Amino acid sequence: MSQVYLNGEYLPLDQAKISVLDRGFLFADGVYEVIPAYGGRMLRVQEHLQRLQNSLDAIRLENPLSNQQWLAVFEKILALNSNENSSKNPSKSPSKNSREDSREDASIYLQVTRGVAAVRNHGFPGEVSQTVFIMVNELSPVDKEKLRAGVSAITLDDIRWKACNVKSISLLGNILLRQQAHDNNSAESILINDGLVTEGAASNVFAVINDVLVTAPSGSRLLPGITRDLVVELAREHNIPCEERDFTEAELLSASEIWLTSSTKEILPVVELNGKPVANGKSGPIWDQMIDIYQTCKVKLRSGESS
Ligand code: PDD
Repeated sequence: MSQVYLNGEYLPLDQAKISVLDRGFLFADGVYEVIPAYGGRMLRVQEHLQRLQNSLDAIRLENPLSNQQWLAVFEKILALNSNENSSKNPSKSPSKNSREDSREDASIYLQVTRGVAAVRNHGFPGEVSQTVFIMVNELSPVDKEKLRAGVSAITLDDIRWKACNVKSISLLGNILLRQQAHDNNSAESILINDGLVTEGAASNVFAVINDVLVTAPSGSRLLPGITRDLVVELAREHNIPCEERDFTEAELLSASEIWLTSSTKEILPVVELNGKPVANGKSGPIWDQMIDIYQTCKVKLRSGESS
């Protein structure tokens, strides 16, 4: 998926260049989004655009495009990358006879920075011309049986700043926390702030506590995940008891199920925490129900039945 968008132009990735004076490069002064697209159809794109607007507002940067313009760019960049794939593999091209789009699943990565300033100065430059970069990455199809095997996680003190609701490109805290998980042969770090579970280094966290699905409430301690919100909504629609409330590390350690959610990982069961099995060390019955509900949601999106 080698076609990218940079400041109004569509071009091959190896031709996309920005100045070393870009404030994204010098200060990580920017925000980003990751939007999954199933069969060419974007999941909850309006919610992603709203979160982008919230992040831009938080860093006092004007949105460079209208929602209509963003959508047009997303459609074009998805099409360019899908044409590239279907010319390599003609059996993957969109079928004219079926409503189901056979385009591959992909994720759109976009970032907006405060652009290039003539000198490196912490304060905002007088004139700003935002840098907008978009690329598309392949999303491997989620296989329920593979997901069922689950992953290991560790708990760590949340060392990040106090505005984790902003989807900032400044991810050094998250990177160091994720790497600590990898150093411990684990897939993710679950973060603890003042004794409370917040989220993962790059995911939101759910736990089943006394048969109730629990996730931390939105606020400045965590990113309001689009997948998280969808899972909460789906749980309520399907009468799965679900609460958005603070919960402690001790409650997490005694949970009967733990899940990680994100646009790229969907809903991933944690079967081992800090080297000990979560319950019986296998994914649980509520995950089993929720992953089917989530997959049905994706099938409907692919066939154009829902947005
Ligand atoms: N990250 N919390 C953090 C810190 C994250 O980085 C992410 C996702 C999430 C889940 O949000 P969503 O459901 O909207 O993807 C929560 C993306 C995928 C990334 O950085 O690549």
